[in-house]
Amino acid sequence: MVIAIDGPAASGKSTVARKLAEKLPCTCLNSGILYRALTWQILHSGIDPADQEAITFAVSRMQLELSVPPIGSPALQIDHHVPEFESHDNEVNAAVSKVATVPAVRSCITSLLRGFGKDRDVVMEGRDIGTAVFPDTPYKFYLDASPEIRRQRRAAQGLEDSIENRDRLDSTRSIAPLSIASDAHVIDTSNLTIDGVVDAIFEILTHASRDQQ
Ligand code: C5P
Repeated sequence: MVIAIDGPAASGKSTVARKLAEKLPCTCLNSGILYRALTWQILHSGIDPADQEAITFAVSRMQLELSVPPIGSPALQIDHHVPEFESHDNEVNAAVSKVATVPAVRSCITSLLRGFGKDRDVVMEGRDIGTAVFPDTPYKFYLDASPEIRRQRRAAQGLEDSIENRDRLDSTRSIAPLSIASDAHVIDTSNLTIDGVVDAIFEILTHASRDQQ
């Protein structure tokens, strides 16, 4: 069972997904971390994040796997090594949405995510989980919040993150853009607490499983 949680930057997805997974309980996978790890590796290799051809070539030479520790979150393993990096590093923030437009990058990460969710109960969050990675899951949520609230949330975290720019690139790319699946439950988190959002999702899931019985 895959519970897909998608939405734009700073909509509250990561914290909600983690808390929901604790409550259910099941595994949680933050797919953005995989895109960030690959971006860090690209930058670290001196490749221009706008150079699609160079990225495609580099990715074709990488051995990408998911490292799944007994406790803690799955991480991207590149050539048998999990890169240690600050995931909200400014450089990664500025480059990740460009790297995420490259078809070879999306195809590698999508197949890792599909493999992971195939026989697990998992809350998976990202941009395209309900629309492209697991379009058949009946459990789809789309979290949103006003741009002003999302900006305030990032500022409160002390992070330099051009969320408008990332949202624009994420929702206009040609492959698996950020969009609302037609059967997703949309939740505006602007005026809700994290626990309020988790409870709302939990309630929808409880009703759905009762209806199936
Ligand atoms: O979720 P997070 O903000 O950490 O994601 C970082 C970036 O990774 C997004 O802005 C997007 O460009 C990319 N991403 C994606 N598809 C996903 C998850 C993340 O394209 N499923």
